[in-house]
Amino acid sequence: MSNEVKRDGFGSKIGIIAAAAGSAIGLGNIWKFPYITGENGGAAFILVYLICIALIGLPVMVAEFTIGRRAQKNAVGSYRTLGSGGPWFLGGFLGVITAFIILAYYGVVAGWTIKYVIFSLGNNFSAMNTGEISELFGDFISRPVEPIIYQIIFMAFTSFIVFFGIKTGIERASKILMPLLLVLILLLDIRALTLPGASAGFNFLFKPEWSRLSATGVLEALGHAFFTLSLGMGTMITYGSYIRKKENLVSTAFSVTIADTVIALLAGLAIFPAVFSFGVEPGAGPGLVFVTLPQVFNQITGGYFMSIFFFILLALAALTSSISILEVVVAYLDEEFKIKRHVATIGAAAVITLMGIPTSLGFGKMSGVTLFGYNFFDAYDKLASNFLMPLGGLVAALFVGWGIKWDIVEDELTNGGELKGKVTLVAIKIFKHTIRFIAPVAVLIVFLYKLGAFNAIIA
Ligand code: PFF
Repeated sequence: MSNEVKRDGFGSKIGIIAAAAGSAIGLGNIWKFPYITGENGGAAFILVYLICIALIGLPVMVAEFTIGRRAQKNAVGSYRTLGSGGPWFLGGFLGVITAFIILAYYGVVAGWTIKYVIFSLGNNFSAMNTGEISELFGDFISRPVEPIIYQIIFMAFTSFIVFFGIKTGIERASKILMPLLLVLILLLDIRALTLPGASAGFNFLFKPEWSRLSATGVLEALGHAFFTLSLGMGTMITYGSYIRKKENLVSTAFSVTIADTVIALLAGLAIFPAVFSFGVEPGAGPGLVFVTLPQVFNQITGGYFMSIFFFILLALAALTSSISILEVVVAYLDEEFKIKRHVATIGAAAVITLMGIPTSLGFGKMSGVTLFGYNFFDAYDKLASNFLMPLGGLVAALFVGWGIKWDIVEDELTNGGELKGKVTLVAIKIFKHTIRFIAPVAVLIVFLYKLGAFNAIIA
């Protein structure tokens, strides 16, 4: 049996976009994007983030799809096959390690969203003011046991879906759920933008004040472009390997990138007007969404039901992302070591869950313990998002731009010459320059800028 027939794959065009968008759209858009935007001063940060998405994220996604679909293998196997045994496979290996780190803390926050479904069901926020809602959040995440139980529940769901393979679980779930989430966010936008004092939030999002942006902010914007598009860690290589040969990779990547960016911006529009209207600190950190949105629900007729529904969808959006992270590890163990899928899934999920426990305890009992000067949660996040993922993306860009023959790339992007439309051909030309020069140089510049390499010039 040929490899292609044997591999489980996405069954339809919409299935691929839904699954890849399901991976991209998750806590990164609705939880992380708003809080790091708040911490980094708003609009100027968003502009840098959008530039990173367009110049680096989109081309790297095309590159990762190309690698995966060409090689028909997991992240490590793909580099190994196309790189003819050279050191490129280390790029895939880096991805597998990054997957462990990210899912460790992602599972913790996803667990919080399950608890918020339960809070919503119990109508817990309805009579609360800003201070009380914020206390409720702080009290919950600092508990030693409960958040870990929710983390375990979430990881069990994730394993369950990965366990049963690609097509059925992922595809069906994403197709229905993501559009629903969009509708709910739009409703929240409308309410948030009509709150008293909402314009301050709007300005915060769209009027850049460059003085608020630091070198760290620029690095965070770059890191978040990778995080939100699920890049630089083999996810889109692995998913690319499941994309059928007749799909257009460039347009698929484009659709996913647009969907992801729109959801993030709409989430910001739901949150910041409320942040300013209710007097929440924009830089409040990981609790921002959990403290702000319950108050918006309090202001909406039917907010009780919307809040339940919203947190269920948020948990599910997290699920369609977490399965894509676990899939990187499982596909690797399955294909490279012939470890049975269910053993690989359960084993990897167990290790990842254990790795996540200190990040949860870091909000309470272990709050004094630091790693490189950060609590566990920030240490994992900053290491993975701001360093490992951009590095993984850099490797993918260099590999596709320079490491393999351009003929191969072009063949893959035109589906063996089948796609001859002008738009596709122009897009491929632009892609060639971006992936060879602009994306790698931009990542290097941000790294060097953060390291202070340009201080002498700027000062
Ligand atoms: N892109 C996801 C989000 O924004 O929530 C998170 C993520 C998924 C990161 C898959 C990395 C990944 F490989």
